[in-house]
Amino acid sequence: MRDVHADAPGRVNLIGEHTDYHDGFVMPCAVPQRTRAVLRRRDDTRVVARSREMEGAPFEYELGRERQTQTWGDYVQGVTWVLAGEGFRIGGFELDLESDVPVGSGLSSSAALEVSTLRAIRAAFQLELSDVALARAAQRAEVEFVGAPVGIMDQMASSLAGEREALFLDTRTLAFERIPLPSTLELAVIDSGVAHQHAGGDYVTRRRESEKAAHALGVERLRDVGIERLPEVEALPPLLSRRARHVVTENARVLEARTALLEGDLVQFGRLLSASHASLRDDYEVSIEPVDLLVALADAQPGVFGARMTGGGFGGAAIALVSHDHAEGVEGAVRATFAAGGHREPEIRATEPSAGAERVS
Ligand code: GLA
Repeated sequence: MRDVHADAPGRVNLIGEHTDYHDGFVMPCAVPQRTRAVLRRRDDTRVVARSREMEGAPFEYELGRERQTQTWGDYVQGVTWVLAGEGFRIGGFELDLESDVPVGSGLSSSAALEVSTLRAIRAAFQLELSDVALARAAQRAEVEFVGAPVGIMDQMASSLAGEREALFLDTRTLAFERIPLPSTLELAVIDSGVAHQHAGGDYVTRRRESEKAAHALGVERLRDVGIERLPEVEALPPLLSRRARHVVTENARVLEARTALLEGDLVQFGRLLSASHASLRDDYEVSIEPVDLLVALADAQPGVFGARMTGGGFGGAAIALVSHDHAEGVEGAVRATFAAGGHREPEIRATEPSAGAERVS
């Protein structure tokens, strides 16, 4: 039987952080780093999965007997478990995975794994699954099987976003719009080297706090609280007020960012990114000191339109939007000053939206 090849990218989020589980707006784009899957059908119902990055024996199980193991194999099991629950009939398979999406950097290696695996299964077993339905299945695998209560941004980005365009997404309706990034812009992804972990504590705590704030404002999801209700938000107890204020103002910023990008106003777009960071740092309290420092260093360089943390936070990476002709200078300055402050030299991955070229240094 022939091998099926599929792949899926990691993502960065340009703006719209911690809004997706409140049915809000997000604007991610794909990164050049990808997970590749090679799948070969078997004649039985056994799954044998290997990952080049995860050493050790292959991960093996019987379809229909998926059980949580707290290992990377849970992402594969989650996917076949969800497909069975949705009535799709598949057989056993061999799966070989390899990935250059770094784990724990906030670039969504888990979504890339889920989406590449689902794409390979879809092709091998000829499943009728749209790209949006595939993203939903990937998210269900992560929430319901792996046990990380994430929103849908990462899976939608991995399934639908391109590298040189922002995916403006309404996470309530899943309506999306692809907006090209200007060719003069370079997107620098600056890894703090501090790994984050989502299934665990802090992400869940923030989610619960903001849900509590939503209920205090009489809604299920903060998407339904417009910016005109900020006075009510300000009147909540301080912690709930800060959590809600972030989500409410962040949704407004994403809408403004969409307009700015459509109008080619990079200065305004960059300002909104930096404001998003301040809100995540001060109101949502999901940033960490090394990432704040990277953002401040980047923001202070000539040629930088804006910078912010990206992804769930508590570690991971920052992004900076840099005018192409300043990119090398900015990267050199950020790297040197960060390291001089006693931190490990950050890895900077820069993508040039125009050429799609990738530089890893
Ligand atoms: C993680 C989750 C996403 C989203 C972001 C924060 O990446 O997987 O669903 O909530 O955090 O914006």
